Amino acid sequence: MQQSCRRHPQTRHSYKIFKTISGNEQYPGTNNIRERTISGNEMKDLTEFIEKTFLDSKGMPGSLFYILNGIKDEFGYIPENCIPDVADRLNLSKAEVYGFITFFKDLKTETPAVHKIKVCLSESCRASGVDELAMHIKNKLKIDFGQKTADGLYSLDYVYCFGNCAASPSAMINGKIYGRLTPDMFDDIFIALTGNQSKT
Ligand code: FES
Repeated sequence: MQQSCRRHPQTRHSYKIFKTISGNEQYPGTNNIRERTISGNEMKDLTEFIEKTFLDSKGMPGSLFYILNGIKDEFGYIPENCIPDVADRLNLSKAEVYGFITFFKDLKTETPAVHKIKVCLSESCRASGVDELAMHIKNKLKIDFGQKTADGLYSLDYVYCFGNCAASPSAMINGKIYGRLTPDMFDDIFIALTGNQSKT
């Protein structure tokens, strides 16, 4: 099924189960989930969206993920106040739905950052110096994995392999994969993102 995202109409999403899961392991610093709620017309849109995805996924294994992933694609995150509705429809407890969200690090209840940075921590990238790169990015942004800068501009996450191992170390910045990425190269990209001419 193809649907365009209401917030990003230029993009089209294929709501396939498990399409964006890039790992399910917890990592230090990923437990700082800050919930966000919505109200008014947006809540009405959300309720209608949940109803639609619920009907689309009825009887389908993995329907909880289908609904939550659809909400994330459509709204950019999972508003905390949709959890009771999702739980009711699937005959689950709110704790079960919340536990599912916190287990998968791609499902977040906080609004997304403007610029999303993901670093590969898998073997090939590790052997090619990604730890140094990751530390450089953390120091530059002053955040850890799973966090967002206070101004909401940048988020930092890790994944396990982009399939770009031949050009390790790799990172994804706003959906684009960069290979053989060095701290200096990251600084240049960062300058381009911020418009800031200073590297420090
Ligand atoms: S190990 Fe990093 S892209 Fe494959």
